[in-house]
Amino acid sequence: MAASHTTDPRVIRVGMLGCGVVGQVLLKLLDKHRPDFVRNGFDLRLTHVAVRDAAKARPGLPAGIRVGTDPLAVAGARDVDVLVELMGGTTLAVEVACQALARGVPVVTANKAALARHLPRYLEAARSGKAAVAFEAAVAAHIPIMEVLERSLACEEISVIKGVVNGTTNYILTFMERAGCEYADALADAAAKGFTEADPRLDVDGIDAAEKLSLLALKAFGAYFPPEAIHTEGITRVAQADLRLAQAMDHRIKLIAAARQTQQGLSLRVHPALVHKGELLADVDSEFNAIIIEGPAFKELTFLGKGAGQLPTASAVLNDLVKLAREPGHSALPVFARESATGLRLADKDNVSLCYFLRLPVKPADAWRAIERIGKLGLRVLSNAQVETGGTTWLGVIVDVVDEPRLLALLPQIAAIPGVQGSPVFIRLDKDNYRDIVDREQSAYFGASLERKPGAGI
Ligand SMILES: NC(=O)c1ccc[n+]([C@@H]2O[C@H](COP(=O)([O-])OP(=O)(O)OC[C@H]3O[C@@H](n4cnc5c(N)ncnc54)[C@H](OP(=O)(O)O)[C@@H]3O)[C@@H](O)[C@H]2O)c1
Repeated sequence: MAASHTTDPRVIRVGMLGCGVVGQVLLKLLDKHRPDFVRNGFDLRLTHVAVRDAAKARPGLPAGIRVGTDPLAVAGARDVDVLVELMGGTTLAVEVACQALARGVPVVTANKAALARHLPRYLEAARSGKAAVAFEAAVAAHIPIMEVLERSLACEEISVIKGVVNGTTNYILTFMERAGCEYADALADAAAKGFTEADPRLDVDGIDAAEKLSLLALKAFGAYFPPEAIHTEGITRVAQADLRLAQAMDHRIKLIAAARQTQQGLSLRVHPALVHKGELLADVDSEFNAIIIEGPAFKELTFLGKGAGQLPTASAVLNDLVKLAREPGHSALPVFARESATGLRLADKDNVSLCYFLRLPVKPADAWRAIERIGKLGLRVLSNAQVETGGTTWLGVIVDVVDEPRLLALLPQIAAIPGVQGSPVFIRLDKDNYRDIVDREQSAYFGASLERKPGAGI
């Protein structure tokens, strides 16, 4: 028999800032799950809503709720026990959330930009008001990664946390592969389907992913580095030829956000990367997100799920509200303090050593010679392929681990190789050790080598 409470439920009064895409679905979920709340001895009752346009029709908004246009008034209202911030932005939203926290009102937010950019303010306000902050919805919406890092892995040594955390760019890259089109057409399709923000640069330039990485690293390593400190590149320069060449060499291109412990410090990077098809991240398509955590004790944990969208986000917000209702003191800030975070510094952004993919326009008859010459420059070519797009033959090569400054210095020499008809474009590999990929492949296929014969193409 299901347990249920017989006494009157404890009423928790909710003030909501914003009633847009996510807020409207949260209204429905609050209504749908009311019987569950009551069975567990509490009720989440909406008392105030702040929006920009109070006259706009809001289906699902219960009668009798005060709808205004002043978020500060909601944050300061006496009949608000918890504030839900779903309005977005990094100025007023921060102001309002911090005011509520400072006066002891807990805050649930999906606003990764505000948190990642102004974390010290949230921390200070939460400390002074002794109020809880919950932000599961801010990173990878329906993947409960914050909870896992904060609680289940609180005292775990983590060496890497990485993932595909931006659904829009993942949709664009997947669309480019499937439709065989260039970036601009895929962006137009994503915009037409409503998958892009009002300012698409937040997604396509990697800014949204960097904000999420800042929060993931905060939880995984206990140290705060703002998004500006993260090496950030977007997907705007990924071309159809890159995707086809990567494909021909058993890779896919994804926007990867990665935090890695290295001997030089913590490496925080967001950029497009070739991911081998044997890796989980290569299979994450469209609006899905995936996060992988690596550590010596557990080796690898993987999480896959819907990373954005109104229902996954609203549902993550609701679950945070329920967590606070059940355990009022539990806060996602401050994070679990780790000794290892003391003095943790960032690794030099420019001084990485990785495997690299190069794409260069070539005369078809000279491709083989170009590969030899690249080898003579000291780069070990591990794989290669050729494709043709728009009348140009492109040679793609994957080269073994090399220091990035050295690779950059060699690019003009590669461009000058006879038969090479322009400057090479490079994209990093997700792995800093191609041997991992080869070894994995060999163990999976009993000896088959990934390393291809020069000239093999599609
Ligand atoms: N949508 C997603 O899939 C998703 C996923 C993860 C996280 N998030 C985050 O969730 C938050 C909400 O996203 P959303 O997609 O629901 O946004 P949205 O559809 O644009 O809704 C924003 C809401 O906030 C209100 N608002 C904005 N500025 C305001 C102001 N100055 N004063 C009062 N009200 C104001 C708007 O009022 P009006 O309705 O009157 O314009 C609207 O109701 C954002 O932080 C976003 O980054 C969204």
